[in-house]
Amino acid sequence: MPKMSRRGEAMPASPIRKLVPLANAAKARGTKVYQLNIGQPDLPSPQVGLDALKNIDRTTLEYSPSEGILSLREKLAEYYHRFKINVDANDIIVTTGGSEAVLFAFMACLDPGDEIIVPEPAYANYMAFAISAGAKIVTVPSSIEEGFALPPVEKFEALITDRTRGILICNPNNPTGYLYTRKEMNQIRDIVKKYDLFLFSDEVYREFCYTGAPYISAFHLSGIENQVVLIDSVSKRYSECGIRIGALITKNEDLKRNFMKFCQARLSPPLLGQIVAEASIDAGDEYMLMTYNEYVERRKFLIDGLNRIPGCYSPIPMGAFYTVVSLPVDNADKFCEWCLSEFEYEGATVFMAPASGFYTSSDRGRNEVRMAYVLNKEDLGKALKVLAEALKAYPGRTENSAQ
Ligand SMILES: Cc1ncc(COP(=O)(O)O)c(C=O)c1O
Repeated sequence: MPKMSRRGEAMPASPIRKLVPLANAAKARGTKVYQLNIGQPDLPSPQVGLDALKNIDRTTLEYSPSEGILSLREKLAEYYHRFKINVDANDIIVTTGGSEAVLFAFMACLDPGDEIIVPEPAYANYMAFAISAGAKIVTVPSSIEEGFALPPVEKFEALITDRTRGILICNPNNPTGYLYTRKEMNQIRDIVKKYDLFLFSDEVYREFCYTGAPYISAFHLSGIENQVVLIDSVSKRYSECGIRIGALITKNEDLKRNFMKFCQARLSPPLLGQIVAEASIDAGDEYMLMTYNEYVERRKFLIDGLNRIPGCYSPIPMGAFYTVVSLPVDNADKFCEWCLSEFEYEGATVFMAPASGFYTSSDRGRNEVRMAYVLNKEDLGKALKVLAEALKAYPGRTENSAQ
């Protein structure tokens, strides 16, 4: 048998998707599975986007320019202006989801062996994309006890080597729901400036900030404009994960040039997705408010419910639609598997993402899970009940020190 690549072997399985076979088996047994594992919003996409899809009137579904359709990039620039992100269409390159923007950003900026520093827990696919690019993610731990605030600057500085090329943040954060403060963002800016690094800033959840605290984009930081690499996506804000449209935004001409070579090699971002995304930017305040209010309510409902379950603890997430919860269990990986394969309550069970996959340090997050509040309140209520019963029945129950 030909040998597989070391890179392929080193790729981590998605912590969000790796238990899918167990969930499918539970469903096949007739068990209702409440899916809290994946950030797939259940809310409808904007009508203007759906109409644009229905009304596509073309005789050829052709490639689009590798950097994306100009009218979409112009519309995106107007959209960013609403958030005081001063970029124009030439600074925006449309990608096949935010995922491709992350991958190509790593490919364009990092050589094999180069390092980027990321606060953990972190969105797991960053590790996967870094491995694809031959680069190394070096993590700075943030902790549930501190509500996942930015670790102190000295912790970052201690990790800087001559291979360090950048810092990566996700703001608001997946998986923790944390929203970085102005002070924290300035601290990041200072390190980026001092060591001449890239700042990769994934801001795909900017619409979802719940506490009244301001959303500070990496582009709001002065003095590092050429070092900022912004990652964006329409997947979450318009519930349009399936159209696969994201973007990379940069003012750095060298990066644009290199990034474009990867875009040209893959020819074109999805044509139909771009048409829908462009129309969806006109979704309007009513749609955005409906979505926002729904997540506000779900967040309160879920977090209150979780913190009422004996032994469970969740900080209050400030943004995005996730939370990392610590549970009174010996091992959250085992507990999540057990819920899917050995437990049900009144014909139902819960599917959560074990948090271990969001950490690189093997000893961290052992009793934590990530939950996405992408179910309606009624289903969230049922999922909470199932979780409470599961925790009573689980043979590996322990005390929870994070409480
Ligand atoms: C933080 C973050 N960045 C990027 C992505 C990629 O999204 P997409 O490829 O659908 O645009 C996701 C998806 O869950 C995400 O949570």
